[in-house]
Amino acid sequence: MNTKWQRALYQPGSPLGKDGQRVTGGKEHIALSKEAAKEGMVLLKNENNLLPLRKGAKIALFGKATFDYVKGGGGSGDVTVAYITNLYEGFQKLQDTVSVFEETADFYRENVKKQYEDGIEPGMTVEPELSEELCRRARNFADIGIISICRFSGEGWDRKEDFCLSSAEKMMVEQVCGFFDKVVVVLNVGGVIETGWIKEDDRISSALMAWQCGMEGGSAAAELLCGIGNPSGKLADTFAKNLEDYPSAYNFHESDDYVDYTEDIYVGYRYFETIPGAGGKVCYPFGYGLSYTTFGRKIFDVKQEGEKITVAVEVLNTGTLAGKEVIQVYAQAPQGILGKAEKSLVAFEKTRLLQSGERQVLFLTFSIQDLASYDDLGKIQKSAYILEAGDYVFYVGNSVRENERLDFIYHLDENQVVEQLKPRLVPTALKHRMLADGSFEELPQGDDGLENSRQSEAGLCGLAPVLPESLDGLTPEGRLVPSVCLWNQPKVSTLLDVAEGKLSVEEFAATLTDEEVAHLLGGQPNTGVANTFGIGNMPDYKIPSIMTADGPAGLRIAPECGVNTTAWPCATALACTWNRELIFAVGEAGAKEVKENNISVWLTPAVNIHRNPLCGRNFEYYSEDPLLTGVMAAAMVEGIQSQHIAATVKHFALNNKETNRKNSDSRVSERAAREIYLKAFEYIVKHAKPWCIMSSYNIINGHRSSENHDLLEGILRDEWGFDGMVTTDWWSFGEQYREILAGNDLKMALGFPKRLLEAKEKGLIERRDMEKAAIRILNLILKID
Ligand code: BGC
Repeated sequence: MNTKWQRALYQPGSPLGKDGQRVTGGKEHIALSKEAAKEGMVLLKNENNLLPLRKGAKIALFGKATFDYVKGGGGSGDVTVAYITNLYEGFQKLQDTVSVFEETADFYRENVKKQYEDGIEPGMTVEPELSEELCRRARNFADIGIISICRFSGEGWDRKEDFCLSSAEKMMVEQVCGFFDKVVVVLNVGGVIETGWIKEDDRISSALMAWQCGMEGGSAAAELLCGIGNPSGKLADTFAKNLEDYPSAYNFHESDDYVDYTEDIYVGYRYFETIPGAGGKVCYPFGYGLSYTTFGRKIFDVKQEGEKITVAVEVLNTGTLAGKEVIQVYAQAPQGILGKAEKSLVAFEKTRLLQSGERQVLFLTFSIQDLASYDDLGKIQKSAYILEAGDYVFYVGNSVRENERLDFIYHLDENQVVEQLKPRLVPTALKHRMLADGSFEELPQGDDGLENSRQSEAGLCGLAPVLPESLDGLTPEGRLVPSVCLWNQPKVSTLLDVAEGKLSVEEFAATLTDEEVAHLLGGQPNTGVANTFGIGNMPDYKIPSIMTADGPAGLRIAPECGVNTTAWPCATALACTWNRELIFAVGEAGAKEVKENNISVWLTPAVNIHRNPLCGRNFEYYSEDPLLTGVMAAAMVEGIQSQHIAATVKHFALNNKETNRKNSDSRVSERAAREIYLKAFEYIVKHAKPWCIMSSYNIINGHRSSENHDLLEGILRDEWGFDGMVTTDWWSFGEQYREILAGNDLKMALGFPKRLLEAKEKGLIERRDMEKAAIRILNLILKID
């Protein structure tokens, strides 16, 4: 028998797998995790086809990362797993193919073990000194040196110096290159690091961007290096030579209180491809990735139907091994008055696995309207998306650099207004922004909105001040339910009646007292294996307590519960697959684990744009490009929600730095906000209809995200048509009644019902505002099986 909310209400141990097996952390999911890992890894370099390693190859492994394998980043993006396969163990399983020199392995194994015992966190170990003698012995045994480099970062802090190799790492690379004439580099990282040393050093033949690829990451990398599978990942970010080459670098750490998004829409490849002089700074461009085979491509056809353009491209595997290719379409809009990026990704498709000699025709469709620019200053028409007059040209290829221009041109005689919107998220402190020629324009200054955001908690609203710090880490109180007689329960309308169609959710909400409504608007105590709290919890009204869990690395359950789950590749690696179906499958599998553990809301995907390599949570996010992010994360949402589990798209919005994340003001132009930072959310809302969005901690142009009416009602609901629930991020510093008025329905990890009722008494919020938010929360609960 399957009753409504059975899992949430009774926490059964019912497995979801075939033959009564549990799927959580099971073989099938781990195999899928490995498949995704292999498809997300990117072959950066492969001189003289050193890779794949030939059968019988003798290899020596170097670098502490051979053992200190980083499966993913820290914080909510971490998961409890049964095991993690490091690179050495990956090769051990392939002893039929390669022989590993054991002495360097012994050296690094012992060294890493010792560093862990000394209290150094995994991923934060230091590169030990390597003796010349060990190198010599390694060279006597092996022909090929394989160097591993790893990086770790996490929630709540940003990276600082680790963009570059440490001097100990440099020394190790020098030694290995000195002894070996065949060197392979494996990068076990969650974000961009310097790669000039790989590209420019002829002594390094090959390199694999192996990312932080989950619990089977080491095995996935070893298999790819040995030719069990063929790399088909393409970079989701631009790898520039130096950190300073990124336009966001010069002020990233300027202040803990704010971040100025002065580079405007020129983020990632949009900067490097557009701004004079920036092109030469790129090591590995966006969309780039090699294969062990080669592909030819032929433009078959270009069709225009109204605003839709479809490019048909035939891809032929011209090499000897089976492989997959990604075809990318970039558009160039006329520079016009507003200024444009030289190239913007508008469509992409990946082939199936093509055998040698096999071909496939891909159809890449996009709308010309996607190329419209937002005119925030009214140079043509204020607050409108505009297609400027002129020629629109298109490029088809397999990276932002490797492509050919189509003969087809889309021409507009006159400017065309695509959508008239209104000013929202108007900047209050951003003084200037970059233009397409690299110069800067002054921005008109609005009044400083800081009054409205930061100081409100301290009394402006007539409530007693609360120190934000005192909110941090509090658990929800729950609610005392009066005792009832089991066989003589009072007759009230319940949420189950709503689920059964006996009354509407609005009618039901109207029967609740103010106290009960206030209770519904905040987080509830954990049940079962949950550790991020729940929603609902009114048994007297048959409202279940539905639990939440992190994401994105997998279902995050605390180690003490004794439940291991599957650790998936980090989101950036998933983005590099450029494979929607695969990401759907990961979402579906992850959601099954969520459901099997009686949890209903998964706090994933996280889709903030990679603005700067140093953001500590980049590994949880997809890409520097809004379209790639949007498409891949939409597939993830669809996969998750196919299991009737709520996906939670986070962190809405402009949470692109972790330092002082609850009080840092992201100062951005309306145009950059809309075209870059909100775009992926917009795509996901319109295409995948997520049930839940998580507002971010930070401030946007002087107003907290969770208290931001422009963002949550104006843009998200009115413009995009979002009809789901918005939750705060956990222990947000916003004032709850202001959050509700702004369209943020739920406060996590806990709400403040008494304070909310006090605000109501003072006339700061009305019952109907609270009821509206409660209805959205109840609607989410109703969607759960
Ligand atoms: C993170 C969210 C996460 C939440 C619950 C917050 O600190 O920013 O991404 O979902 O905690 O763990």
